[in-house]
Parts: sequence; C-alpha cells; structure tokens
Amino acid sequence: MKGIVFSEFIEMVEDKFSPEIADQIIQSASGRLKTGGSYTSVGVYDHIELVELVKELSAVSNIPVDDLVTTFGVHLAGRFSVLYPTFFEGVTSTLDFLESVDNHIHIEVKKLYPGAELPEFKTERNGSQLIMEYSSTRPFSSLAKGLIEGSGLYYGETLEVEAEDLSKGLGNHMRFTITRV
Ligand code: HEM
Repeated sequence: MKGIVFSEFIEMVEDKFSPEIADQIIQSASGRLKTGGSYTSVGVYDHIELVELVKELSAVSNIPVDDLVTTFGVHLAGRFSVLYPTFFEGVTSTLDFLESVDNHIHIEVKKLYPGAELPEFKTERNGSQLIMEYSSTRPFSSLAKGLIEGSGLYYGETLEVEAEDLSKGLGNHMRFTITRV
C-alpha cells in the first residue's frame, strides 16, 4: 500500500486525536510492524501495518475499527480533492464522480503508480441511485464507505449509503447502494 495512505492516516490521528496518541499507537504496534512505524509518502508498505495501527487506535479510543477506517476514508477523500483536484473538477455530481473511480480515476492512478494495489468496483446506475460493488484482496470496504461519504461532502450533496456485506465479515466484498436524496 502506498506510503501516502499511511502518512495521511497518521496526520488524521494527529489532527482528530493528538500527536501524543499518534506516537503512542505507533509505539505499541511497533513490535508487529516491519517498518517499526516510519513511513514516507513515496514508499510502499504492507497494508497489514495500517490494520495494526487502526487496531491500536481502536484500543486507545474505544471506537470500533470499522468506524475509524470509515472516518479515515472521509478524511482521505478530502485530501484527494486537494492533491488530485482534476478528478473532482471534471464532473459535477457525486454519483458521476463515483462512477468514474473504476473506469477512469484508478486507471490513471495505476499509470502514475504502477505498483498501486487497487480494488475493483462494478457499477450500475439508475438515475439518482448508484450501486457500487466493491471487491478487493484487501479488507477495506469500510474505507470505501468513507471515501463515498467524503465524496458526497465535496459536492455538497446528501447521500444515503446502504451497505450489504458479501464477504461474511471479511470486509473485502461489499455492495453499496448510494442514493442522492
Ligand atoms: C481522486 C480520487 C481518488 C484517488 C486519487 C485515488 C487513489 C487511490 C490510491 C493512490 C490508493 C492506494 C493504492 C495503494 O496503496 O497501492 C487507493 C486505494 C483505494 N481506493 Fe482510491 N482513489 C480515489 C477515489 C476513490 C474513491 C471515491 C473510492 C471509493 C468509492 C476509492 C476506493 C479505494 C479503496 C477502497 C482503496 C484501498 C485499497 C483496496 O481496497 O484494495 N478510491 N486509491
């Protein structure tokens, strides 16, 4: 997983919790982290390290892991809109933007970063409703949920997001039904 995802996660912990808590979770997870918890935005690291850091944050904050990962997804959508504005500016609504993730954005991301490990989304559009079926070899459906919600915030639209787990709790296969209300 790209280092940018790790550095954005640690920045979010520093901002939403505190720099001390960010240090504390890195410290307590470090025995289980090959990197010992030091990341650069150009590096590539095992996604398990992110899972370990989130587990530590969950233990410290008493907030469930899935909720923390979704909050991180919302944060990441905001950061992507600053770092990669053209993907957002090219379309005018959340559903059009989300529809473009699989067949445009992630394809461009893969060209920029050939080593990027990206999920797959199958989409079906019916007017103000979009079905997005997430599948990945990694367990980040909660991240996808947060990225969907964060995209709605960017376009200032209200969305209802229903999630149907197709992974028996593994978090790597989920059907999202997104309705603009
Ligand atoms: C401008 C918008 C976007 C950019 C630039 C972008 C880029 C990226 C990058 C760089 C990664 C990390 C790949 C790696 O570490 O190897 C990633 C992963 C991911 N992206 Fe996107 N993305 C965007 C929008 C979205 C949206 C809107 C969604 C959800 C609907 C999404 C879902 C995901 C998920 C769930 C992952 C984690 C990897 C996995 O689940 O297998 N992305 N994306």
